Amino acid sequence: MQNITTKAFAVLFTMILGMGVAQAEGDAEAGKQKNAMCQGCHGIEGFQVAYPKVYSVPLIGGQSKDYIEASLKAYRSGDRMNETMHAIAADLSDQDISDLAAFYSASK
Ligand code: HEC
Repeated sequence: MQNITTKAFAVLFTMILGMGVAQAEGDAEAGKQKNAMCQGCHGIEGFQVAYPKVYSVPLIGGQSKDYIEASLKAYRSGDRMNETMHAIAADLSDQDISDLAAFYSASK
């Protein structure tokens, strides 16, 4: 009896762990759905925003997942200062950030 209970817990625990990993990994498919608001600026090579001042927009497609994720979190917290990206990142959840990072790192 005890053995079965222990086993059941082990299985359950593994499932929960697996879900946690899947979440932290980021889902490129989900990121694709969320990138509509990014493409306007980041999808065009050499694109510049004119507000609040003229900025060159870096291309993020193909950059490393960790870098994109770290940048978005830094914009969100204000550690990396850029008004435009701060306003955008403020609305993103950790899951959004992982998904977007997965999507952009996989695209060119
Ligand atoms: C209004 C234009 C605009 C939109 C929309 C926008 N960005 Fe940005 N993004 C910028 C600019 C300008 C920078 C450069 C800021 C700087 O110098 O730090 C930037 C920088 C970044 C960087 C850092 C790139 C690097 O090379 O360091 C990442 C990552 C990023 N944006 C992701 C996103 C994501 C994901 C979205 C959509 C949720 C998004 N951006 C929407 C204008 C935009």
